[in-house]
Amino acid sequence: MDQSEQFLVFGATGQQGGAVARALKAKGRKVRAFVRDPESGKAKALAAEGISLAIGDLFDPASIDRAMAGIAGVFSVQTSSPAGEITDEQEVWQGKAIADSALQQGVRHLVYSSGGAAGKGPTGMGHFDSKSQIEAYVRSLSIMSTITRPASFMEMMLLPGMGLPLGEFTFFMRPEQSMQMITVYDLGRINAEILVAPDQYAGKTIELASASVTGKDLQRAFTAAAGRAIAYRRFSDDLLVQNPFLSRLTELLDTGLLAGAADIPALKREFGHLTSLEEWLGGHGKLLFEAALVDNKAEVALR
Ligand SMILES: NC(=O)c1ccc[n+]([C@@H]2O[C@H](COP(=O)([O-])OP(=O)(O)OC[C@H]3O[C@@H](n4cnc5c(N)ncnc54)[C@H](OP(=O)(O)O)[C@@H]3O)[C@@H](O)[C@H]2O)c1
Repeated sequence: MDQSEQFLVFGATGQQGGAVARALKAKGRKVRAFVRDPESGKAKALAAEGISLAIGDLFDPASIDRAMAGIAGVFSVQTSSPAGEITDEQEVWQGKAIADSALQQGVRHLVYSSGGAAGKGPTGMGHFDSKSQIEAYVRSLSIMSTITRPASFMEMMLLPGMGLPLGEFTFFMRPEQSMQMITVYDLGRINAEILVAPDQYAGKTIELASASVTGKDLQRAFTAAAGRAIAYRRFSDDLLVQNPFLSRLTELLDTGLLAGAADIPALKREFGHLTSLEEWLGGHGKLLFEAALVDNKAEVALR
């Protein structure tokens, strides 16, 4: 791809899209961000970094078509039902709408960001099965496409309610059980590498992770980063009985589906250094972690 070609990034005011847009920009590429509100702080920050804005809404196909004009490569991501804004059916609709538009507008390459649990058969969780449906649809179209399947984000561990201000951390894994995770920064960088090299990656499905982490690893790394003891334990059985959503996710970890299927050594060979848990805690995750250590909001929610 030549340097003058432009990339369109959906969800650019969010975690994934923001990281992809900035990684493309850091590679000297032209980037257009699809935003709902150009006056939002996050949209203005993108514009200040030299990223142009296309105003639209994923429920408005005409706005998607307009944003695609003159675009060589597209990064597609949608929100999902656990965030509370859309249903699983709407996620599928939006994912298909982007793919349809990319095909109709003559875009060369579409990168769809799916999820680590997708594409391996029904999971019983709507926001994973929605991604399997979008993947299948993207593959059915006559457009060059790459599917990336990110593992759980390290950033997700710092949502409120996991116990950090109280000197403990509760999450999905048993102490010895491992789960692959990815930093949003690595996700952005790898997807950007894929977008600028369509001939190398089109047709591939790539599972993405930065590191494989056990509960004990979390205890050790969080204790070192906090400078005080942080004890790790899995979500309590009582909580899992009360919360079918967390319970099903924990089951999917036990069966291996959520544990992650990325070939991390191969990813390192292909895309270079990947961020370890410790590096993330001392780098891109440092401020988030420090905030989570003192945030008492909803502290008992997931205990
Ligand atoms: N968390 C994890 O560990 C994990 C792991 C793998 C996959 N995933 C998947 O990642 C996806 C979410 O990605 P994310 O965390 O990057 O999302 P995010 O940070 O919540 O950002 C969502 C983005 O989508 C935009 N958006 C939402 N509705 C829109 C609409 N109707 N029209 C245009 N733009 C719209 C938002 O724009 P505004 O600024 O206007 O709101 C924002 O830029 C979900 O599908 C989730 O299942 C998550």
